[in-house]
Amino acid sequence: MSTMTRDNLYHHEHGGEPERRFGLRREDVLDFSVNISPISPPLPEETIDSCELHRYPSIDGGGVAGFYRDRFGLARECVLPVSGAIEGIYLIPRALGIRRAVILTPSFFDYERACRIAGSRVTCLWLEEKKRFELPCMEILAGRIGESDAIFAANPNNPTGTRFPKEVFLALASRFPDKWFVMDEAFIQYTDDFPLSSLMQDVRAMKNVLVVHSLTKFYALPGLRLGAVIAHPDTVGTLLKHKEPWTVNAVAERVAGELLNCGEYEKEVRTLIATERAKIFRQLKSVPEITVRGYGANFFLAQWNAGSDLDELLEYLIGRGIHVRDCRNFPGLEDNYFRFSIRKPEENDYLLEQLLSFGKRVGAALE
Ligand SMILES: Cc1ncc(COP(=O)(O)O)c(C=O)c1O
Repeated sequence: MSTMTRDNLYHHEHGGEPERRFGLRREDVLDFSVNISPISPPLPEETIDSCELHRYPSIDGGGVAGFYRDRFGLARECVLPVSGAIEGIYLIPRALGIRRAVILTPSFFDYERACRIAGSRVTCLWLEEKKRFELPCMEILAGRIGESDAIFAANPNNPTGTRFPKEVFLALASRFPDKWFVMDEAFIQYTDDFPLSSLMQDVRAMKNVLVVHSLTKFYALPGLRLGAVIAHPDTVGTLLKHKEPWTVNAVAERVAGELLNCGEYEKEVRTLIATERAKIFRQLKSVPEITVRGYGANFFLAQWNAGSDLDELLEYLIGRGIHVRDCRNFPGLEDNYFRFSIRKPEENDYLLEQLLSFGKRVGAALE
């Protein structure tokens, strides 16, 4: 980090890591400085060995930072590895001492919870249904940001699926250098124009922009908890002063390195999502009972507008083994909104078939 060395990041020198401290090979040292059991539990040896579970991982998620360096060209000092984006979301308001936060709403619930736990006063800036959940105009945004310490927004937004031009946030961030811009890009790799759509490369120039990134969505690894906050080195330094050590585990560090060999997978997912997204959009146009809203990421926000309760549709789908996300518990989406992800072609076809058939049935009953 720019102002701290790795040793004093956590203001205390822990044990372990003789190879780092003394330049020795691990196998040449009996490490009596760590107080863990000298024998291993009866787990398969390969489980323990492959990820070196008998050792502490790096204190600061170095393996994950290595992924961000090699995959996205991000300097070590701009990357704060976290145990899933969620850790970053909770760390930021606490570490930055945000007192008044404005949140683009409807959105992911945890921005509000994280801010409230940190003692912030939270207000919503509504994405309006009649404006297709798009960004409010510049003057409204500027007005609300001016009254707050920080704005939280997800791009693409979950669950509305709307995308926001990053240029708007860059313009606002330079107009309000003393306000924090917390941009959750958990789904950004699904956007057609990634990496252009991302603010990742802009954080060095903008001290007040923090990008929260996740490796659990695009790489389908939610069980592992992997992600990073990407920000100016000074901002990363501030966050570090408040962050718990060792939150990124050894398996996550190891897998992060292996993700560097997933270039083909990345192409395949992006092509799959883009193709299926277009197909689903096209086919749903012929279902008048369903209004498609945002679809900028790997999911669709849709509204059931057949004049009956959404429960009817949800029950019909569950009876056919399909579970979609009821979005009525999101403020602003009470009016029969639901979200479904884009899955494999044959699975999407099955969902479409059921939506078309139920739409027709309800449509016919109303005639
Ligand atoms: C918008 C958004 N941000 C962040 C997260 C948390 O991501 P992670 O699994 O990396 O903690 C989620 C999870 O659903 C999400 O929807």
